[in-house]
Amino acid sequence: MEKKANKRGHVLVIPYSTQGHINPMLQFSKRLSSKGLKATFATTVFISETMKPELLNSEIDFDTISDGCDKEGFFALGDIDDYLVRLQAVGSKTLTELIIKHKNSPHPIDCILYDAFLPWVLDVAQQFGIVGIAFFTQACAVDYIYYYVHNGLLSLPISSSMMPIVIPGLPLLDLRDMPSFIYVVGSYPSHFKLVLNQFSNIDKADFILVNTFYKLEQEVVDSMSKVMTQPLLTIGPTIPSMCVDKRLENDKDYDLNLFKLDSTSTCWLTTKPPCSVVYVSFGSLANLTSNQMKELARGLKQTGFHLLWVVRSSELPKVPHGFIEEMGDKALIVTWIPQTEVLANEAIGCFFTHCGWNSTIEALCLGVPMVAMPQWADQTTDAKLVEDVWKVGVRVNVREDGIVSGDEIERCIRQVMEGEQGIEMKRNAMKWKELAVEAVCEGGSSDKNIDELVSKILARCK
Ligand code: UDX
Repeated sequence: MEKKANKRGHVLVIPYSTQGHINPMLQFSKRLSSKGLKATFATTVFISETMKPELLNSEIDFDTISDGCDKEGFFALGDIDDYLVRLQAVGSKTLTELIIKHKNSPHPIDCILYDAFLPWVLDVAQQFGIVGIAFFTQACAVDYIYYYVHNGLLSLPISSSMMPIVIPGLPLLDLRDMPSFIYVVGSYPSHFKLVLNQFSNIDKADFILVNTFYKLEQEVVDSMSKVMTQPLLTIGPTIPSMCVDKRLENDKDYDLNLFKLDSTSTCWLTTKPPCSVVYVSFGSLANLTSNQMKELARGLKQTGFHLLWVVRSSELPKVPHGFIEEMGDKALIVTWIPQTEVLANEAIGCFFTHCGWNSTIEALCLGVPMVAMPQWADQTTDAKLVEDVWKVGVRVNVREDGIVSGDEIERCIRQVMEGEQGIEMKRNAMKWKELAVEAVCEGGSSDKNIDELVSKILARCK
């Protein structure tokens, strides 16, 4: 590994402070570093306290900005609107201080790679004449839908006469395929504003990066590229466990977990036959109702398959009484696992997922077929793509009362784990895995885009 001190071109990376945003941006920072740039990853003060000590010895540097919640953290504030206002105000000020601190060091900041959820970071970068690169952590398809809404190309609310929804580069979309903020009118207004605001000053960014790969979303990448004024580069997938970059080959999992990691699952999986385990997770944010948890547990049990189920500590009280004891060695319930390492394990036959973009692309790129049970935000659109475009999974049907029944859960899992359709989905998943590896390997579409980005950053270094 090239010594940090010898590196030229200093990129400061600023993620939005949730697990689903930190993971891809941290992994991409390592990738930039492996390409010879000096990368500094700036988390909030609160998050920096939860970092694993070994991470601090990694090939990238760490620094902090403040979101104004140093002691209590993001979730303690409760109100997302209050949080976002505070984040922008305190974040801009502390980011400015951080840039000034580096200005007189041997490595001034040449470029800021910012999460597109934080457009104000670009404003700060521009005050200093620093290159600004927007990083979109979600699927290009979803980004383009938000772009359409932001620019008034799709007027809301969507009426039945507007169905199906036509957006160039995307399949015909039904209302339930749209991000939840659109199809559940008026839901999560602050989050909706946040995702639309990604485009508020995008014309000023020097580059746009999307965590996807070209062949996966070719049509929509081409469509969106045409309307952007600057290069739109696909640079993904930014996931560990793919073993494609020799310099990152020991990377099995992301290094910054906001939840306490339980690694016992890796050992448990080695005792299970190939493709015999259903892995269940709803990511870092989704909360199911107690009724839904009951139906989920019922459906999972009815399948009779081995089960590895991530239930975050805050969700554990909703697991039906006696379930863990009844399942015995058939099931392992853990509060947080190294997900990419688990998905790469050959014992996993199917991923029962909420279809957060990271989980979706991780499963695709590690060749695991899915049952999609989307909850909110971009997950509904991801589920549509999983089922109908990439054909690597099946999406559950939701009852009129909003619950997915245990029988429906069992039916979907069987469809993926057994029979002809399941074999076809596994075959498709393996095809996407190969294409993903091709994209990030030397000379692949994402790898070339990263090289282009690195050389342009270096060319602009003072
Ligand atoms: C959120 C949104 O919900 C998602 O839709 C959006 O695309 C990104 O931000 P989240 O709900 O947490 O993220 O889901 P996801 O995008 O799948 O990210 C979860 C991350 O946590 C993944 O990288 C996954 O590998 C990791 N994870 C999850 C673990 O490392 N261990 C676990 O036990 C569960």
